[in-house]
Amino acid sequence: MTNVSLFFPGASTERALLCPPSGLNFGIGLNYDIYRFDRIDSTNRYLLGLGEKGFPEGTVAVADEQTAGRGRFGRRWEGEPLSSLLFSVLLRPVFLKRDEIFIITFGAGLAVAEALEKVARVKPELKWPNDVLLDGKKVCGILLESNFEGDNLKSLVLGAGLNVNQPDFPAELKEKATSLFLATQRKFDREELFSGILTQFSLVYETLKAGDLYSVMRRWRERSAMFGKTVELSIGDRKVRGILDQVTDEGEVLVRTSEGAQRFTAGEISLSGIPSNETGEKK
Ligand code: BTN
Repeated sequence: MTNVSLFFPGASTERALLCPPSGLNFGIGLNYDIYRFDRIDSTNRYLLGLGEKGFPEGTVAVADEQTAGRGRFGRRWEGEPLSSLLFSVLLRPVFLKRDEIFIITFGAGLAVAEALEKVARVKPELKWPNDVLLDGKKVCGILLESNFEGDNLKSLVLGAGLNVNQPDFPAELKEKATSLFLATQRKFDREELFSGILTQFSLVYETLKAGDLYSVMRRWRERSAMFGKTVELSIGDRKVRGILDQVTDEGEVLVRTSEGAQRFTAGEISLSGIPSNETGEKK
C-alpha cells in the first residue's frame, strides 16, 4: 500500500506550510512522506541532505517557491511562486544495477506525462532524455541527482518542475516554454496534479521493481516527440546534426548523421534550426 503521511520538516531555516489532510492512499507502490515548504532553496538539495541522513525512499519535498532551483547542466530553474509544482522524491532503487539507474529519469517523464493525461486531459509528448512537452514546448523538466559512496548508490533524488498556472513567460522563454494553463486555458489545482503524478510514479516504480524495464522504455518511446525529425544534439561544445532514429532500451539516443549513425548517452536535443528547448531555466 502507498501511504502519504505529512509532517513538518523541523528544519530551522525553512518554513513548512500547514499540512493538508494526511493519510492519502495512492494504492500500491512507494510510501510517501511529504515535507511541504512555502519557500526553500531547492527541494533536490534538501532531499540529498535527508538522503545522507538515512531517510527512507519515498520521502518527498514540495515547495511553493525555490530560491536556488537547480536545472540540468548546472543551470538555475526559475519558477514563479505558487504557479508551478516543484517537488523532489528520495529514492533508493537497490533493485537497479548502476548502469540501469538512467531509467528512473525516463520513468519519471513517463509518469508525469501519464498523470497529466489522466488529470488534465492533455496529450503530452516526451523529449529525450527527460522533458515533458505540450504543443512542442516544455511544460516539465526533470533532474535526477545521485549520491554514490564508491560504487554504492547512497541515494537518488528525482526532482520535477511542472509549469502549471503561469499565464505568460518572459520573452526569452516564450518560444520554448508553456504551462498547463497556456496549453488549455484552464487553471489547475496543483495538489490534484501532485497526487496524480505521485500515484503514477509509484506505479512506474513498481514496474521497474518487478524488473520490467522494457515496458517503461516502450511506453516512453510511444510518447516520444522527435523520431524521424532532424535534430541538433549538443554535448558540451560539440554539436551534431542528424535524424533522430531511435532511443534504445539502454536510454541512448541514436542520431543518423552524414558521417553515419552515432549514439549518445547524454546531451541536449533541439529541433534543427530551433534553439535548445530549455524552459524555466536561466544560465
Ligand atoms: C531541467 O533542467 O529540465 C530540470 C529541472 C528540474 C527542476 C526541479 S524543480 C524541483 C526540483 N528541485 C530543484 O532544485 N530542481 C528540481
